[in-house]
Amino acid sequence: MDHATHERIAKWERRWLAASGLMSLTFVILIAYTLATEGGEIVQAAGRTDPATLTTSALFAQPGVRALGPNEYQVSLIGQAFTWVPNTVVVPVGALVRFYFTSRDVIHGYQVERTSINLEVIPGEVATLHYTFDEPGTYRVSCNQYCGSLHHEMVGWVEVVSAAEFARRQSAQAAPAEVDGAAVFASNCASCHQANGQGIAGAFPPVAGHLPDLVRADRTYPVKLLLNGLQGAITVNGTSYNGQMPAWSHLSDEELAAVLNYAVTAWDEPEALPADFVPYTADEFAAERQSPLSAAEMLALRGELELP
Ligand code: CUA
Repeated sequence: MDHATHERIAKWERRWLAASGLMSLTFVILIAYTLATEGGEIVQAAGRTDPATLTTSALFAQPGVRALGPNEYQVSLIGQAFTWVPNTVVVPVGALVRFYFTSRDVIHGYQVERTSINLEVIPGEVATLHYTFDEPGTYRVSCNQYCGSLHHEMVGWVEVVSAAEFARRQSAQAAPAEVDGAAVFASNCASCHQANGQGIAGAFPPVAGHLPDLVRADRTYPVKLLLNGLQGAITVNGTSYNGQMPAWSHLSDEELAAVLNYAVTAWDEPEALPADFVPYTADEFAAERQSPLSAAEMLALRGELELP
């Protein structure tokens, strides 16, 4: 290679180096600008957690919002197929919110629209970031990691309310009125099982025309089902399903008893239930809560039921 050719190549190499250096610099400036203006921070690891023992973990046994100090809140969130626990997070505007995330099963993504909150939620890992919402409003949360057949249904919400409204809701929560099973069903179950309890054939099994059969077969089975969830292939009244019912153990024993009592009577004739049926009590849920069952144990249990 003669000297002139060598010089020409060297000149182009310097230009390419300068261009790629400039691009890297631009990206760093953009990231720094976003961090400085959006009030966010880079997601950090905050330790590990065992997905199998979330119900007894300090951070995730009671997922939700808790006050850490004046105008500072902790939000513990669990991702599971195909919902967020809690699905709706309510925080006051202008407060420092410290989020902690983990997953009960597979990798999900928590992306809050119109904010810089966007992270992977990974089983076994705890991720944390803090954020301050400056605008009140309802922010939609999308799962942005493909997590299974109903990934597109995995939508959550962050409600950012005024300090006064936040205080009002907290005091309403502190003194709960009689739990309304219909309301619990509407806000937790109806998106899959539908408001009329009919489910969606092939995707979500019906509650109507089926739940009384489960009660007849084994009174404690629906209690275990709500606490532990169910995953795998089942048949309901001749139709096959292969999906996942999430565990609802984050609901209180009172809420679970109320929603079950609502669902066993809402659509079926009373005669569908055993003649000696008495309403479920919170104590029955408290008792079953002591012995959590694995997904495999739940599926085996359902296989043993004698169903019509
Ligand atoms: Cu969870 Cu996609």
